[in-house]
Amino acid sequence: MTLYPVALRLTGRRVTVVGGGRVAARRVLGLLEADADVVLVSPTVTTALEALSHTGRIKWLNRTYAEGDLAGAWYVVAATDERAVNSAVAEESERRGVFCARADDAVASSAWTPALGRYDGITVAVSGERDPKRAAGVRDEVVRRLQDGSLAAPRRRKEPGVVLVGGGPGDPGLITVRGWQALRDADVVVADHLAPQSLLDELGPDVEVVDASKLPYRRSMAQERINELLVSHARAGRYVVRLKGGDPMVFGRGFEEVLACASAGVRCEVVPGVSSAVAVPALAGVPVTHRGIAHEVVVVSGHVAPGDPTSRVDWTAIGRLRGTLVLLMAMTHLEAIAETLIHNGRGADTPVAVICDGSTSEQRTARTTLGEVAAVAVAEGLQSPAVVVIGDVVGLGADLATRARPTHAAMTPTREIARSTSASVL
Ligand SMILES: C[S@@+](CC[C@H](N)C(=O)[O-])C[C@H]1O[C@@H](n2cnc3c(N)ncnc32)[C@H](O)[C@@H]1O
Repeated sequence: MTLYPVALRLTGRRVTVVGGGRVAARRVLGLLEADADVVLVSPTVTTALEALSHTGRIKWLNRTYAEGDLAGAWYVVAATDERAVNSAVAEESERRGVFCARADDAVASSAWTPALGRYDGITVAVSGERDPKRAAGVRDEVVRRLQDGSLAAPRRRKEPGVVLVGGGPGDPGLITVRGWQALRDADVVVADHLAPQSLLDELGPDVEVVDASKLPYRRSMAQERINELLVSHARAGRYVVRLKGGDPMVFGRGFEEVLACASAGVRCEVVPGVSSAVAVPALAGVPVTHRGIAHEVVVVSGHVAPGDPTSRVDWTAIGRLRGTLVLLMAMTHLEAIAETLIHNGRGADTPVAVICDGSTSEQRTARTTLGEVAAVAVAEGLQSPAVVVIGDVVGLGADLATRARPTHAAMTPTREIARSTSASVL
């Protein structure tokens, strides 16, 4: 049988789905993505379908199917687990001249649902005749190859402007799909040193890469110069990706760049990223919150020492907190910070983890206490980039350090340094 493929424009058009199980739930999500007006007929539904009905995204008729339910439908899905009901739905569809996709019988269906994938404005729809697994396999392969560039689809011409992309903590697998797509379309990439550098190697030879690294207390490109570069490239008609480490808005000066673009009349989009503040501890087996242990997490920049007149951190208040404290850019002032926290009430025996080069093959973790962290950092040569986690959540993960530890495929096993005289740690 030769199928005739079409793409339906369903916006605002009624689609009736009969059945409320897993298959119906999947079809409904696809239909909602296409903006269809979904009416669901079923005496029972999955929790996810019930939630969609509660929020008004679908209309749920809580009863069995009855002749006439398909009135006004442009398209019908019969997905009950009763063959007789699906047949009745298909017959009514036929009488009304409406296409019906039956979940239980492809041959008796007037329409088939292809395996669907989307990539950057392209919809991939594969029909494997009566072999849905094969269709899904081909779909996956096409989408994967579009994503990794091995299927050379012409680059989509983008409107000139700037996209601030959070690149995640360093592992190339931790950039978001949208961030990665923007990178693939870029004419110019202005990159920080903490952004995933290996992604830059994958860019085409025609893409201009600008190194805008800011090394702590060392060589840096001035923020004003970065702003100028973004604006001038965009004004010259280019699609500019500003690739940053972690999330652009977490101590990333991202909003300064948004403002610079806005005042120059340049279009600017933000693609959030996975922040090192949360992801690096997680990769080291330290959850920043845990039920019954930490009901707060505070992220603080330690780049200005406590007591410095330019500091905007209330260290007195922070010393009184009992939850999790996450410090970024804190290695230079670690001793002063630890002393200040203890002075303001945080116990010297509070567990601390220092995680350096998180998510990279160089990742290593030192576990100690607040009273000893500065000495441990010196003794072990712990250096930036590092995330310092202070709080009882650190003790939770200590156990995992010697057993299984959360990790991800691209990461090599990390080094763990255990240094403490305190019995409450490790
Ligand atoms: C200027 S801040 C940028 C933070 C970034 N916007 C984010 O959301 O992760 C740089 C600091 O982030 C932390 N950091 C970033 N990447 C890291 C990594 N891979 N491992 C450990 N710390 C990291 C360090 O504290 C570093 O000094």
